[in-house]
Amino acid sequence: MNDDDILISTRELRRVYREGARVHAVLSDVNLDIRAGECVALLGRSGSGKSTLLNLLGGIDRPDHGSIVFDGKPLHALPERDLTLFRRAHVGFVYQFFNLIPTLTVAENVRLPLELNGVKADAIGPRVVQELERVSLGDRQQAFPDQLSGGEQQRVAIARALIHRPRLVLADEPTGNLDAETGQQILDVLTDLSRQQGRALIIVTHSLAVAEIANRILTLSDGRLTTAGTRIAW
Ligand SMILES: Nc1ncnc2c1ncn2[C@@H]1O[C@H](COP(=O)(O)OP(=O)(O)OP(=O)(O)O)[C@@H](O)[C@H]1O
Ligand SMILES: [Mg+2]
Repeated sequence: MNDDDILISTRELRRVYREGARVHAVLSDVNLDIRAGECVALLGRSGSGKSTLLNLLGGIDRPDHGSIVFDGKPLHALPERDLTLFRRAHVGFVYQFFNLIPTLTVAENVRLPLELNGVKADAIGPRVVQELERVSLGDRQQAFPDQLSGGEQQRVAIARALIHRPRLVLADEPTGNLDAETGQQILDVLTDLSRQQGRALIIVTHSLAVAEIANRILTLSDGRLTTAGTRIAW
């Protein structure tokens, strides 16, 4: 592996939850290197810490011990404000239950990351149209989320996750709430768009079919990662 290509690395990553006197180490020693342009599937049984790990990589949560380095920048040491700016600029999230804002239209949901990143208002409209066309929803801009099917809502969520051109895309069971066929379509859209644009993509999944399209499969168990397989091309 060429070290220059590594986008995000973790070393000795530890995350502990405390409930009263009980201490539960969800992640005890996670070491990970993700390259730019790579697609990684993250497997593990329910409760193994997959979402916890994504939240750490995406700067939503902080580790109790260890390092997370993104393009040379130590996320674990950043002040809160800088961590927020990092997240807005460089990370796109896709969730199982879409997480669209129900009172905003499709276009308003998709434009949010650009507004948060301070993109000028007159530059936003055309980018929203372009991003929605990429997910074949150019004609649904004024719809509200509850007027869309699950698969359509997830395509809106993908447009929202990619519109600010993040270098890292984190998808937490993006097909978990969809039927198999729609799930496959969503996966194709997510992986195609990420690959075209050279983004690193980490997909949490319970499905081996999903994992088959990834370059690498990582499994979390007992607070650690194991590698199940590596594929050069995808
Ligand atoms: N805020 C919290 N406080 C206490 N415990 C937590 C908290 N968040 C997560 N946990 C615990 O950490 C463990 C890992 O949770 P996590 O959500 O990361 O698992 P997961 O692998 O994503 O599971 P699933 O496949 O069900 O989504 C679980 O035992 C969970 O109960
Ligand atoms: Mg989870």
